[in-house]
Formats: sequence, structure tokens, C-alpha cells
Amino acid sequence: MIEFILNERHIRTDAKSGMTLLDFIRYEKRLTGTKIGCREGDCAACTALVGTMNANGVLEYQSITSCISPLGNAHGKHIVTIEGINLKNELNVAQEAMKLNYATQCGFCTPGFVLSLTGFTFSGKENTNENIMAAISGNICRCTGYKSIQRAATDIATKLEALELDNKMAWLVANSFIPEYFLTIPDKIKKIPVKQESEANSFVVSGGTDMYVQRADSLIDEQINLVSDHIGLKGIIASDDKIVIGANTTVTEFASHTIIQELFPNLKKHMALVSSEPIRNMASFGGNFVNASPIGDMTIFFLALNTSITLQNEKGTREILLKDFYKGYKTFDLQEGELVTSISFNTASDFKFNFEKVCKRSYLDIASVNSAMRIQADANGIISNAHVAMGGVAPIPKYLEQTSAYLVGKTVDVVMVNVAMEKLQEEIAPISDVRGTEDYKRLLARQLFMAHFIELFPSKLNLKDCLAYES
Ligand SMILES: Cc1cc2nc3c(=O)[nH]c(=O)nc-3n(C[C@H](O)[C@H](O)[C@H](O)COP(=O)(O)OP(=O)(O)OC[C@H]3O[C@@H](n4cnc5c(N)ncnc54)[C@H](O)[C@@H]3O)c2cc1C
Ligand code: FES
Ligand code: FES
Repeated sequence: MIEFILNERHIRTDAKSGMTLLDFIRYEKRLTGTKIGCREGDCAACTALVGTMNANGVLEYQSITSCISPLGNAHGKHIVTIEGINLKNELNVAQEAMKLNYATQCGFCTPGFVLSLTGFTFSGKENTNENIMAAISGNICRCTGYKSIQRAATDIATKLEALELDNKMAWLVANSFIPEYFLTIPDKIKKIPVKQESEANSFVVSGGTDMYVQRADSLIDEQINLVSDHIGLKGIIASDDKIVIGANTTVTEFASHTIIQELFPNLKKHMALVSSEPIRNMASFGGNFVNASPIGDMTIFFLALNTSITLQNEKGTREILLKDFYKGYKTFDLQEGELVTSISFNTASDFKFNFEKVCKRSYLDIASVNSAMRIQADANGIISNAHVAMGGVAPIPKYLEQTSAYLVGKTVDVVMVNVAMEKLQEEIAPISDVRGTEDYKRLLARQLFMAHFIELFPSKLNLKDCLAYES
């Protein structure tokens, strides 16, 4: 039995947990304001908001793309569709802002934009123009043009400036952002029993953002093993010398954790390159690793941290390095019944970290080549430790073993980086495909490797030196 609150209504359903939330909303409940565009997570016409009770008993809301979200993941949550934010006698603030700014034309994308914008108002995110634009980073409009939508977003952010943070939901109700029934939802959610154990022998799905793009047809009629809410697979624990992360922690949970933000000062910039806000709200690290895409962004990120993963099944638990997990194209060391349960990396020593990604579009695209580097060097630029990973240059997400080893003991300067680049070119084997020719990817590999040093050692290396060296 899957039980949740859909807008104001309490839902108890025997529908299959693998059914998509979108199909349940539209075809079982006839809430047709939620639109179907791509069914691949790319357009956000199907946006829904999901309110999840946190440890302090407060509902935290996020946007998701319901077309690739399994219904079973709705259990114990508040699901909000476009119908669920309507006020009785007037438009809500987001709807009104879209109207006043002429931000809608055919209207197909509009419910998604309005929900993403309304969701932002109670997301708990700092009210900045950058953040409200990020809230609609997954929404695509094909006819209005984005400027008017952006103006609507800015108007909403301006109205939100008066928000009373310690009385947030009541203020949002009083100021026509959301309907009054929202105030009754926390009590209703608390009464829903905790999810029963999932189907242990069925297919493992976490956020579903890979699985429902690849094989939705075979999942929608199934009871699936949903792992995204398993307590043991979530959370971030920091000790003096180590960070341990539950394997099904989402990209958003990772990126919003204070300790992680301190450790990676450019995290916001890096994570903006990974999919879009609704996808980051669902996408887990376990899913990214086991999908085994040679260009998986979080896989490359964690390979460069020299991450270990813990794997567990009925027979026991083992720990291996993430770099040893991959055996060939989409083949990996996951044994029968095994789950990736946690990932961990060492933080004992100070290190610098950088992530770079080039794709055909700046945002919401998969990489042609991506790369990350963790490096430790003294004040003279002498490197004591280095780990470099690169995607799109081999059949697997590639840990650059030889290049990383070569860097240790060297001093950062333009000559050394260029010699290391030659090692790197020997170590990679990109192929020509839709994301670029082999030559182009080799060029990108070169640029991204160089970019790491320019970003992390600006006093030792700059773009001008690099260009001068090339000529
Ligand atoms: C529109 C869109 C944009 C995207 N953009 C990017 C991008 O920019 N960069 C990027 O890297 N990816 C991107 N992705 C891919 C995807 O979002 C990520 O790979 C994500 O991390 C997958 O996580 P998930 O929880 O959704 O995985 P799921 O789809 O739930 O699962 C993926 C695989 O992992 C397995 N699995 C999940 N958890 C475990 C576990 N604990 N133990 C064992 N197996 C497990 C599942 O069985 C399945 O085989 C995008 C996807 C979409 C739809
Ligand atoms: S229908 Fe396009 S993201 Fe869901
Ligand atoms: S208004 Fe037509 S797609 Fe956005």
C-alpha cells in the first residue's frame, strides 16, 4: 500500500510502486494540469512538488519531474500538483506574476514554471535572483521566450523579501503564495505509517532518473525495490579525517550540507553543471555510480576524491575503491543482491579540488568531456598528492592512474603541466561519437586538465602563460 497526501487529499493505493507519479496523477486522479512533454526529465512540463518530513518534523519541499519518478517514492510525502496551489478567489503570487509579465503563450509549459516558482517560495533557499533562476533551470519553454518568465521570477523574489522566516508557511498563506490547507499537511503526514520494506528481490531503483529514461516500459507495471528513502542509505557523517555519505543521498542533499560546502568552496558553481534542479533533487550517487556512464558527473567528482564504496548483500560487506569498481563499458563489480550502501573519502589533509565540464549546451546537458582533480601542494607548489579523473575519454569513467602518479613530487609550473599532459594523452582513448570527435575530445581533455591548474594555482600558472607555451 502506498499512502501519501496529494494536494489536500489522502491517498491510499495498491497501484504498482513502479508506476510513474505522472501517470498516477493524470490517469488515476485525472489531474491533467500536470503536462507530458518529453517523459525523459528534460522539459519539466510534468513538475510536481514533494514535501518530505525532516528530522525536526518540518516539511521540506522540492521540485521533481514526475514523469521519471516512481509512484512508490511518494509514500509518506506531500505531493503538490498545479491544482494544489490554486487559491479560492484569486491567482497566487506566481500565477499573477506570470500573467502580468506576459510570461505565457501556448501555456503548455506554464504549470511547470508556476509550480517551480511557487515551490521556490517555501523551499528554504535564500531569496536571491540566482536561486530563483536556478529553481526554473529544468523548465523549458518553446514559445514565450525566457525574458518575460525571468521578469516574473524577479517579481516573485521581490515580493518574497518581506517573508517572515520564523513564521514562513503562515506568512505565505496570508500573502497569497499558497492555499491555507498547506498548514494542515504536517499533521496529516505524521499519521502515515512508515513505509514497509520494499520488494527485496525486485529491481533496485533510487531516484529513477536513469532507470525511467532507459527502461520505463519494463518498470511501470512492477513492484520495485525503492531504496531512496532507506535510512541506512542516506545522510552525511563528517569526522576529523573522513566524510561518509549514504549511497542514496541526492545531489541536492550533498550540495546543501554545510560541512560539504566548507570543504568544496566552489560547490555551487560545480553542481550547477550537473543536470537541473528537479533532477538533482532526485538523483543519487548510488544511481550515478551503478549507471556506470563513462561521463557520469558525480562519478568523476568522487573518483578524483579517491573515494571508497561499501557494498553489502546477505553474505556480507566489503569496501573497494570506486576506481576499481569499473571493469569495462557498463560492466562493474556488483555481485548478486549487492547494494552500494555508502561512499567515503579522506579529508585528513588540506587539499584543493576542481571540477570542469564541457557539453554542447552550457546547462542541462551531458558532458562531452568532464574532469575533476584533487591535489595537495606546499607553498612552493611541490605536489605531495594528486588524483585526476576524466569522463568521455574511455569506456569507463576514468581514474587517470598514471597521470596522477606522475604529478606527485613535481612542482606546479607551465612546463610540468604540459609534460603531464603528454602522459594524460597516452592514458586516454576517446572515440568519436555524437558528443564530439576523438580529436575534439583530446583537445577538451587538454583544456580541462590545464583549467584545473589555472583555477587552483593562479599564482603559478595562468591562461596567458599556457597560450604562450603552446605557441
Ligand atoms: C534530464 C536529465 C539530466 C541528467 N543530467 C545529468 C548530468 O548532467 N550529469 C550526470 O552525471 N547525470 C545526469 N543524469 C543522469 C542521472 O540523473 C544520474 O545518473 C543520477 O545520479 C542517477 O541516480 P538515480 O538515483 O536517479 O538512479 P536510478 O535511476 O534510480 O538508478 C540507476 C541505477 O543505479 C542502480 N542503483 C541505484 N542505487 C543503488 C544502490 N544503492 N546500490 C546498487 N545499485 C543502485 C539502479 O538499480 C540502476 O541500475 C541526467 C538524467 C536526466 C533524466
Ligand atoms: S515530461 Fe518532460 S520532464 Fe517530464
Ligand atoms: S508557453 Fe508555450 S511552451 Fe512555454
